[in-house]
Amino acid sequence: MSVTVRSTPNIALIKYWGNKNNELRLCAAGSTSMTLNTPSVDVTIDHAETLAVTSRNKEMKERDIARFEKTLQLTKNYLSSLGYDDALPASLNISIESGIPPSIGLASSSAVFSALAKAISELIDADLTDEQISVMARLGSGSAARSIFGGFGAIRTADGEGIDSSVGWQIADEHHWPLHDIIIVPSTDEKKIGSTEGHAKAQSSPHFADRIKAIEKYRLQDCIDAILQKDFEKLQAVAEEDCMDMHECMQTQNPALHYLSEETFRIIGEVKELRESEHLPVLYTMDAGPTVHLFCTNEARERVAAFAHAQASCTIFEATVGPGSHIV
Ligand code: PMV
Repeated sequence: MSVTVRSTPNIALIKYWGNKNNELRLCAAGSTSMTLNTPSVDVTIDHAETLAVTSRNKEMKERDIARFEKTLQLTKNYLSSLGYDDALPASLNISIESGIPPSIGLASSSAVFSALAKAISELIDADLTDEQISVMARLGSGSAARSIFGGFGAIRTADGEGIDSSVGWQIADEHHWPLHDIIIVPSTDEKKIGSTEGHAKAQSSPHFADRIKAIEKYRLQDCIDAILQKDFEKLQAVAEEDCMDMHECMQTQNPALHYLSEETFRIIGEVKELRESEHLPVLYTMDAGPTVHLFCTNEARERVAAFAHAQASCTIFEATVGPGSHIV
């Protein structure tokens, strides 16, 4: 019996960057995000003797397969720790149908690995909580722990290096606050250094420790409060501060990672002018790529979408809040 799960990217508002344990993807600090309703990926899994991973729109390289293999091994270990020894079959047939361009800062891995974790929990018929499924998702991609949840997700960290010491949780569901994410993709070239490699070097930035302190001291809580209070101005201030702070860390780590392009800076400059002149509730945020995410409220959606579609040679996606990983 095969199982198919649909998942979508989540876009971080307080960014996850750096681990306290790279092997287990234990996040160095907490983070928050909004789960999108589109674009989506469908992951179908079935029992198999040996691992097979196929994707309709991405050539699976050896290192991609190795990542799935490692994720499955760690998932087995985690399930054993929960008392589900031998619950996973010998291996899996994993088939991916994705509408998300990979490696451009559109969080495709968060969708794929959250779908895989949710599908595994269905296939083995284990009675797992969403938080436990989020731990399995995190083993493949840290940010995937947040895509299990609809609406506004988060990751919290606990002391120690237990496999479940970074856990996803839900701040508010998809009916809480109908924000939009208008996504401007200036380039669909794949980035050269992916986030897995980048996380592993984050601590080489002289800025890293201050970044973690700021998140723990006030940023994470300010962001959660802004979401719960639906306070857009507060969300804008804290999300933009944290985004630029993460990129400062990336740019000062060794080797330096420059994910933002000239186009990114031009677009955010114009967004600032636009919101000042037209008093628009819109904020910008970027992940590990030049893609600009413009979060806005209902009242600003049309104007922000018109701005996005006026950008020459950019691909535009329009998304709103989504329901999280679910069976189809
Ligand atoms: O989950 P990963 O390993 O793809 O890391 C995601 C890192 C960022 O997208 C840059 C930030 C985040 O919190 O999603």
